Amino acid sequence: MSQKKFIAENKDRFISELADLLRIPSISTLAENKTDMSRTAEFIKDRLHEAGISDVTIYETPGHPIVYAEWLKAPDKPTVLVYGHYDVQPVDPVELWSTPPFEPVIKDGKIFARGATDDKGQMYMHIKSVETWLKTTGTLPVNIKFLIEGEEEIGSPNLEPFINAHKDLLKCDSVLISDTSLFAPGVPTLTYGLRGLCYMEVEVTGPNRDLHSGTYGGAVPNPVNILAQMIAKLHDKKGRVTIPGFYDDVVKLTKKERENFAKLPFSEKKYAAAIGVKQLQGEEGFSTFERTWARPTLDCNGIYGGFTGQGAKTIIPSKATAKISMRLVANQSPKKTGKLFEKYIREIAPKSVSIKVTDLHGGDAALTPLDNKASIAASKAMERAFGKKTVYMREGGSIPIVAAFQRILKAPTVLMGMGLNTENLHSPNEHFNLNHFLLGIESSAYFFDEFSK
Ligand code: BES
Ligand code: MN
Ligand code: MN
Repeated sequence: MSQKKFIAENKDRFISELADLLRIPSISTLAENKTDMSRTAEFIKDRLHEAGISDVTIYETPGHPIVYAEWLKAPDKPTVLVYGHYDVQPVDPVELWSTPPFEPVIKDGKIFARGATDDKGQMYMHIKSVETWLKTTGTLPVNIKFLIEGEEEIGSPNLEPFINAHKDLLKCDSVLISDTSLFAPGVPTLTYGLRGLCYMEVEVTGPNRDLHSGTYGGAVPNPVNILAQMIAKLHDKKGRVTIPGFYDDVVKLTKKERENFAKLPFSEKKYAAAIGVKQLQGEEGFSTFERTWARPTLDCNGIYGGFTGQGAKTIIPSKATAKISMRLVANQSPKKTGKLFEKYIREIAPKSVSIKVTDLHGGDAALTPLDNKASIAASKAMERAFGKKTVYMREGGSIPIVAAFQRILKAPTVLMGMGLNTENLHSPNEHFNLNHFLLGIESSAYFFDEFSK
């Protein structure tokens, strides 16, 4: 039977298995979901067994378990390491979900649940593609290793040490990842760049307690006012980040790359309308794709302090806090950027307050070359499945472990994502287009074939 036919005949079962996986609330950042993390790892182990892979091990870590599996019965063929993550983001604000986040429902050809597109649905495609091979032919054209972690959404703190400690086990000729997006629905896409991340927290303390704002107002430093002024100083009028040295290590966009980005179809109007903003805004002299894919940026993710309850309360708050993250591009170091940030924050803070700066987490950016056998095989595989030419893009988001794969395993990494940036990842009503789920299974199956040639 052809692989296409096998996938078509089994699609209802594939989707109901995915729904079972989506029912487990594997939120990596919440302590209360700790046992759900192990349950998810066990679930994946069982599905790998059923797909025909007998060698599956769950490795405990100081955090959440790592699922590792291997099928190595093609001794003279290359080895593919499939990476994915089974952890998901928190669901808040939960009242904005149309249906409960861990009770998957299918509507208009999409499955709705937290983790549907990021990354359970995309990760599961590869397990189903291996099953498709083993059940239609009894074999695989390449050797396969699976590395599925539960800590991607918290910066993969235990994965790099694991890779370092298991270099031989993880040895491979390419790394295959589906945890990114298609350029547009139905358009096969290879992503070759990810941004990095440096996530900081700034706490400003003024008076030793909240004060009556009538009695004291005008005579003492107000941490909320001061923090707002400091944040405002982090960008100049041209939308550039003002931290000294911030741009020093940035790899410049090449003329060719700018030309390629400019050729991709894009409507500023539609883009703005889809997210409900009146106008786009960013660093002067760069297009939207350049700003989000290839330029470093700084954003305040949240700010709190003082009275935020109902109605009015007249105080000078004692404290104010901001969560500030910087997206980085290849060659910028998250640690170094964090230090530059802290130095500047201390420089612009008035003497009247005390400042605490914490580096919460970070991740390296990555640029993955396209002139290797794995990327060429992936492009062909997607063209076979989608019946269209592959498009190349970069991504503004981060997958922190990709740089470590390149650095430690020295294998080309293929980012063959099947999501859409409009599928509400990290937001309420996350979903995954089931047509892309099936095309992803097919693309993965063809990738193994193309890469074995
Ligand atoms: N799958 C995403 C990365 C991504 C985002 C791909 C948008 C395509 C479009 C990944 O799970 C993610 O959310 N990464 C975090 C990393 C962070 C928590 C260390 C990110 O980019 O914020
Ligand atoms: Mn992801
Ligand atoms: Mn994510």
